[in-house]
Amino acid sequence: MATIAAASRPHVIVLGNEKGGSGKSTTAIHIVVALLRDGYRVGAMDLDARQGTLAGTLKARQHFVDTKGIVLPLPAFRAVHRSTLDNRPDAEADERAAFDAAFAELAPDCDVIVLDCPGADTFLSRYGHAHADTLITPINDSFVDFSMLAKVDPENHDIVNPSIYAEMVWEARKQRFSADRGRIDWIVMRNRLAGSEARNKRDVGETLDSLAKRIGFRTLKGFGERVIFRELYLQGLTLMDVREANIGIALGLSHIAARTEVRALVSAIKLPPAALRLVA
Ligand SMILES: Nc1ncnc2c1ncn2[C@@H]1O[C@H](COP(=O)(O)OP(=O)(O)OP(=O)(O)O)[C@@H](O)[C@H]1O
Ligand SMILES: [Mg+2]
Repeated sequence: MATIAAASRPHVIVLGNEKGGSGKSTTAIHIVVALLRDGYRVGAMDLDARQGTLAGTLKARQHFVDTKGIVLPLPAFRAVHRSTLDNRPDAEADERAAFDAAFAELAPDCDVIVLDCPGADTFLSRYGHAHADTLITPINDSFVDFSMLAKVDPENHDIVNPSIYAEMVWEARKQRFSADRGRIDWIVMRNRLAGSEARNKRDVGETLDSLAKRIGFRTLKGFGERVIFRELYLQGLTLMDVREANIGIALGLSHIAARTEVRALVSAIKLPPAALRLVA
């Protein structure tokens, strides 16, 4: 792991889930902008540079600022690419070095670094997880997504055993602890919640709560299924930018609800106030 003294180490927030399309990059960009607006110095790293969702949205954001002359907060950003080396140990060493270099460049000027991981089990994803102070796992609100956390009895929804991703997080926790005695606070966030709570949705919530104690995570009722979480992506904007960006979107009830959901997530991370980190 990058050797950064504990006192000056930024708080690292990892967005991870081996399941593709669960909302990692969407959650990452909303956390980044919310924290920037709270006065934190934020760094962002895309560990899924081949897909480049976070990289793309931040590039679009920069373009918006440059072309519209409207100032919006931007994070410091690095993309970490997968190695092109064939030999696995060499490729891992290559990726570790690329990650460490990017992290070391960002760390001195950041209070928080947000890492967006790919939706697959890769070396960079594992290495990123082992740096987490806070790990946020968005899951779509169904038992299909649930399967990467635990195997569940289809009849009665009892938990049979923890699954591969939960085991990967366990490994990351061990690595983090042996590196600097740090602990990973793991938040599993339900994403794309439907407006009406169907019976199956309640079951997901209940089963998640019972699994939380066994595997060691906290649960959060995260973002609702809302157009505002995806419609501004191509411009690199978020719902926290709507007023300033002056793009003709009227703030409705759904936006206010979405903003409340983002605020609830940010406060669940329990960061020290920005001003305190700046003088620390
Ligand atoms: N709460 C939400 N409401 C509406 N759309 C959403 C929400 N969360 C995510 N989406 C949409 O779902 C799709 C997948 O989201 P996203 O790209 O954030 O997932 P991901 O976990 O980063 O995917 P990958 O594993 O491929 O990196 C995107 O089109 C995104 O706009
Ligand atoms: Mg993504």
